[in-house]
Amino acid sequence: MDKQIKSRERVVDHGEVFTNEREVNAMLDMVEGECERIDSRFLEPACGDGNFLAEVLRRKLEVVKRRYGSSSIDYERHAFVAVSSLYGVDLLSDNAAACRKRLFEQFIGEYAKVAKGRVNAAFLDTIRTVIDMNILCGNALSMRLVDESQEDTDEPIIFSEWSLAMGDRVKRRDFRLDELLEGQRQQMSLFGSSGSPASEWEYDESVKAYIPLPIREYPLTSIYQIGAAA
Ligand SMILES: C[S@@+](CC[C@H](N)C(=O)[O-])C[C@H]1O[C@@H](n2cnc3c(N)ncnc32)[C@H](O)[C@@H]1O
Repeated sequence: MDKQIKSRERVVDHGEVFTNEREVNAMLDMVEGECERIDSRFLEPACGDGNFLAEVLRRKLEVVKRRYGSSSIDYERHAFVAVSSLYGVDLLSDNAAACRKRLFEQFIGEYAKVAKGRVNAAFLDTIRTVIDMNILCGNALSMRLVDESQEDTDEPIIFSEWSLAMGDRVKRRDFRLDELLEGQRQQMSLFGSSGSPASEWEYDESVKAYIPLPIREYPLTSIYQIGAAA
């Protein structure tokens, strides 16, 4: 119970009660296949210090190690896909920071075992950058970034989609979270009636659904240069 609550005030003010490990595992077991699909994307909208994201990352990295552990380049490419598929938002900056730190340290621990001490510093720089960009301090209800007092700013929550393209190169596209979720909602009702999506959406093969157009696209970048380019 101690690990589930930090203080009475935080429970009252922010509903901060962390999920225990047994429940996290039971819930993730219900989507076991997705947790083992290296490129399936997960968003934990009130992530706290990342109880769900950390377990999904653990499961995905197990798969990456089993399949690609014998080649450092293949391991790094697929480990990048695993970590870059995880997204989180939390209202409290200390929780968002704890979540980033936890995922990064967990990643280094697994990677160092596979790399047997020969870790690639540029690759780790990329992993840190991606985790920093994927775990944001924001309001999951208004879908805006928040300031130090947890007040909404004018800035929408924007997430980058990372997709492995050729070799070690990655395509980055930015989306507004509110548009992604609104698109999904409208799509469900549109498909129920007319069967066709709004014209400004595009069909995304990786998620097998229509999604809004990205607000920004970037040139292909190597997984060894994303950290330096940020
Ligand atoms: C019940 S805890 C859950 C944490 C974690 N998902 C878990 O299962 O262990 C709720 C978390 O939601 C955050 N939170 C509360 N309201 C939020 C909001 N509107 N947007 C984003 N995060 C919020 C709190 O700061 C807290 O970290």
